[in-house]
Amino acid sequence: MQRKIAVVGTGYVGLTTGACLAAIGHHVVCADIDAGKVSRLRAGQVDILEPGLAELVRRGLDAGRLEFVVGAPAAIHTDTEVLFLCVPTPMGADGSADLRAVESVLREVGDLLPEDCAVATKSTVPVGTADRLSRMVNAPIVANPEFLREGSAVDDFLHPDRIVVGSSDRPAARRVGALYEPLQAPTLILDAASAEMVKYAANCFLAVKLSYVNAIAQLCDRVGADVVAVTEGMGYDPRIGRSFLKPGPGWGGSCLPKDANALVHVAESVGLEFPLLRSAIEQNARQQADVLDRVRQACDGTIRGARIGLLGLAFKAGTNDLRDSPAVRIADALVAEGAEVTAHDPAISGELSGIRLVDDPYEAVKGAVVVIVLTEWPEFRTLDWTRVAELMDGFTVLDTRNLLDGDPLTRAGLTWRGMGRPVTS
Ligand code: UGA
Repeated sequence: MQRKIAVVGTGYVGLTTGACLAAIGHHVVCADIDAGKVSRLRAGQVDILEPGLAELVRRGLDAGRLEFVVGAPAAIHTDTEVLFLCVPTPMGADGSADLRAVESVLREVGDLLPEDCAVATKSTVPVGTADRLSRMVNAPIVANPEFLREGSAVDDFLHPDRIVVGSSDRPAARRVGALYEPLQAPTLILDAASAEMVKYAANCFLAVKLSYVNAIAQLCDRVGADVVAVTEGMGYDPRIGRSFLKPGPGWGGSCLPKDANALVHVAESVGLEFPLLRSAIEQNARQQADVLDRVRQACDGTIRGARIGLLGLAFKAGTNDLRDSPAVRIADALVAEGAEVTAHDPAISGELSGIRLVDDPYEAVKGAVVVIVLTEWPEFRTLDWTRVAELMDGFTVLDTRNLLDGDPLTRAGLTWRGMGRPVTS
């Protein structure tokens, strides 16, 4: 059954939510405060790199099921049944989630909400937020966390593992859960605090898993084991699973780092130490320090004055998102140590302070003593390594994603160094 829905915020979560809810038959009005962005969206222009999203937006517009308006109040009508809050909840100075955007939207629309309209929080919000927000407005608040990965958000939305909704008002939670019925996913109707907690617990589990596998990769390097073989051996165990076992330059993006810090903060606020999560965060910083050590070694001890070529800047392949990107952190640290850094990322153009950004991967490696692969873009696999070797001034390629096949590099006279993998030269 078609429902009338308002979505506030058109970042990748808000826009995916709006476009996908329209695609499964609902009528959705999406609001953003950025008038320029709204007029671009009305024209079907999507500036987020998210496969399938632009097409869904255009289809929703053509079918008259998707509208874009400026400002949250304009999205609320007398027949709006659910309002989704998809505004950012950035990390505050102390690691806590900053709820000012969520609260300010609620203040703006609180008096406009029709009777029985539920307010669903999609933004990741700390446990207890639904309770706190329900004191601000006279409407049921439903925690409805999303589990969308950037770069596959549309697919994740339309093929969810589960739908989680939680509220002290169970009928309101059921109403929000029912919006997803066409997707035929297991639906969990919970209390609000548990629903809010599912999101943090899941993201932080993933962060811990990655820090663990990154530490195993460092260990593999020191004991002469191959992390690819090790994780394959681990992954056959269904209790462990195969996914999220790839070492890298550290985990980043707009979610995992923010949520890990926020959960430590939540734990402390109720008098609980969370050393496991803290050390996962520390391990993540160590992972970047480890990459820098490898660069130092490859530059004979000093980075100052060395020309370094970076392949990849986005926090993972398939996105143009630089938020909390380990690649950017490593680039900044190299610049701070006096390196001359040139970088290429197929999805990033423009200016980045201290870094020379180029459109051509071969331009990025020209004159470099060390080349570092930081984002797992598949096109890096098929570079002409003989040409790279000719263009470089040194011969080390640090592959922090274990993306490349070492053979063509060694044939070209290069030394390939993966993470937790035997060095080939
Ligand atoms: C993450 C979660 O995976 C989603 O379920 C969640 O909905 C989302 O956060 C959110 O809270 O909104 P996302 O930030 O898009 O999604 O990125 P991930 O695919 O989880 O990757 C996170 C980081 O881990 C990236 O830096 C990635 O490169 C790294 N990673 C991932 C690895 O280093 N190795 C892996 O095997 C997997």
